[in-house]
Amino acid sequence: MRATPASGPSKTTEPGLEGDTETVAFGVYVHIPFCAHRCDYCDFATWTDRDHLIEAYVDACVTDVRRREATDGLAPADTVFFGGGTPSMIPAESLARILDAIPRTTAAEVSVECNPDSTSPEALDVLVGAGVNRVSFGVQSMRTHVLAILGRTHDPDNVIRAVDAARTAGIERINLDLIYGTPGETLQDWAATVEGVIELAPEHVSAYALTVEAGTPLGQDVTAGRKPAPDDDDQADKYTIVDDLLGDAGYRWYEISNWAKAGQECRHNLLYWQGGDYMAIGCAAHGKTGDRRWWNVRTPERYIAAIEAGRSAQADDEELNAAGRSDEALALALRLRWGTGIGGLDRAVVDELVAAGLLEMIDPERIGLTRAGRMLANEVTVRLQTR
Ligand SMILES: C[S@@+](CC[C@H](N)C(=O)[O-])C[C@H]1O[C@@H](n2cnc3c(N)ncnc32)[C@H](O)[C@@H]1O
Ligand code: SF4
Repeated sequence: MRATPASGPSKTTEPGLEGDTETVAFGVYVHIPFCAHRCDYCDFATWTDRDHLIEAYVDACVTDVRRREATDGLAPADTVFFGGGTPSMIPAESLARILDAIPRTTAAEVSVECNPDSTSPEALDVLVGAGVNRVSFGVQSMRTHVLAILGRTHDPDNVIRAVDAARTAGIERINLDLIYGTPGETLQDWAATVEGVIELAPEHVSAYALTVEAGTPLGQDVTAGRKPAPDDDDQADKYTIVDDLLGDAGYRWYEISNWAKAGQECRHNLLYWQGGDYMAIGCAAHGKTGDRRWWNVRTPERYIAAIEAGRSAQADDEELNAAGRSDEALALALRLRWGTGIGGLDRAVVDELVAAGLLEMIDPERIGLTRAGRMLANEVTVRLQTR
């Protein structure tokens, strides 16, 4: 299987805005499916009782990369992203071993998701030595009682120490992930969280509305009426707070849930949103090659077994047809600050959405979401997809 289009990686720059980040065409996502503890809201593919598999899993990831390179050739990656799960839970030397196997460009962005309480200065030194230059910490809240409701194991002091350690180790770009709308979180709690994060001066902030996933402890509590479901108005107020506070502090939104200092956007995530190709390494990881989407088997056991038996770990794939491709491209482009061209859209619907204050003309040929539109992005997208 080829990892990139026959022409190889191409670079594009989004039009229209000053200082835009150059985006890339090929990335590698590595999934690390281990956590020390399962947070009450999380339904990601991760396990808390499989630490005995870690070294076999790392070996399998390395073998998978090498085999793909030997059989199909791997273009040098412009971005590598270790996501989880908790990549900082496995030995930093093991992450470095996987990273070493991945061919990459000299200026590649290499990100690792870390939990604030499983990130040591020693591990960060090893990661920086291996080429990691971006770290994303799962902060979620700077209020102790909110962290407790989310079932997190860290406290705000862990966050301050972890960010300090990352800076000392020489990590160039730090992202802090936040969640808003947790039951029991007041508007003041949320503002204090955002202000606390701004004080730490990260280059990038992601803020996600809490999603209640069925089957999680939080989902069960909400279904049983023990905890209230997140409230749309409360989440809208909190979106306004984070957008205002970050905007005042010099961060600009570039995707509905993501803000960055100029030029500090996450290149790996931009690659997803702008239709670039990416290779998936590890269980439950998803890849994209041209119009084909594919994904690996879900569990670490099945991933290790497939790779050790010399088989592909791919579970399935799907090819998008032309309508699916254009719907997806529209949905992804609309989420971004750069918006989308109006060619091919129903002009009457565009005008209606502009009049409703949900879309704005970025220039005579392009539309983008207003802040009100960002809060109703799915509805706006569906209206525009109805041709
Ligand atoms: C899968 S986690 C991996 C990072 C790391 N394990 C951590 O939690 O610190 C990536 C991010 O997804 C977000 N996330 C996970 N589940 C969510 C949910 N149900 N609602 C909103 N955000 C969620 C959190 O902000 C989290 O930092
Ligand atoms: S939110 Fe992060 S730390 Fe918590 S269970 Fe999910 S992946 Fe693990």
